[in-house]
Amino acid sequence: MTEALLRRLDVATEAALEAAALLREYVDKALAIEEKRPGDLVTAADRASEELILKILRRHFPEDGILTEESGQQGSPEGTYTWAIDPLDGTTNFAHGYPFAAVSIGLLEGREPVLGVVCDIFRGDLFRAVQGMGATRNRKPIRVSSTTELSRSLLVTGFAYDRRETPDNNYAEFCHFTHLTQGVRRGGSAALDLAYVATGQLDGYWERGLSPWDIAAGIVLVREAGGKVTAYDGSPVDVYSGRLLASNGWLHAALQEELAQVSPLPVSFPLRRNRWPGERSS
Ligand code: IPD
Ligand code: CA
Ligand code: CA
Repeated sequence: MTEALLRRLDVATEAALEAAALLREYVDKALAIEEKRPGDLVTAADRASEELILKILRRHFPEDGILTEESGQQGSPEGTYTWAIDPLDGTTNFAHGYPFAAVSIGLLEGREPVLGVVCDIFRGDLFRAVQGMGATRNRKPIRVSSTTELSRSLLVTGFAYDRRETPDNNYAEFCHFTHLTQGVRRGGSAALDLAYVATGQLDGYWERGLSPWDIAAGIVLVREAGGKVTAYDGSPVDVYSGRLLASNGWLHAALQEELAQVSPLPVSFPLRRNRWPGERSS
């Protein structure tokens, strides 16, 4: 079992590093940007990265299931191992040349994340973790922060692509925690947000509307760096539920308590928004 995971760690590392190098070739070049739905972008870079990662993983582990952002589920989700891959996490940042995006390769055993490799495309940092074996950045051990008070914490969150259609859009939670903490960041890459909770540079992270490929790798990073990852209410996290709370552990109960108190902002939906290129007025 450990050997099986270590072999997969090596191959996932190779795939993440090669994909990040490939993605760097797209930086500062004109990118054709498509919208899968309003605000949810995809580019040739996402697709090329995914193709490269799949080629490497399939060559070594043809028996493993695969779940990716751009091609969905391939192979049985019931097999022992399923790769949960985001070939470019932070596509909106990347498409605008904003340097905060990563390749995220997680491995699920059943529904449980057991291995994670996240490579920061712009800084080149390599974050890795295997269940029970600790977490590293550039092969050096990392550890969550020791912040014990919300008033001294720096948090991060994000807003899912359905934010314009649902009152459950995380706006109220964002305001709530902005008042209680030293700040709330919106990184734009869930994988890196979790990686920075693992390094202790951020103290906590919550978000809804996520997919397994956004968080599988990051969950292992945070846990192996000594942090805690659960559902909002503290129950075991399910990568398919779309929602999670991650922290350094010390702040977890307080974050949970505060999340339970927030109710959606009193605004009516759908909110006015800009029309997208090619979209007709209704
Ligand atoms: C998104 C990023 C973002 C998060 C969104 C994700 P993408 O992934 O991780 O931080 O807020 O929920 O969908 O589309 O850039 O791969
Ligand atoms: Ca993503
Ligand atoms: Ca993506």
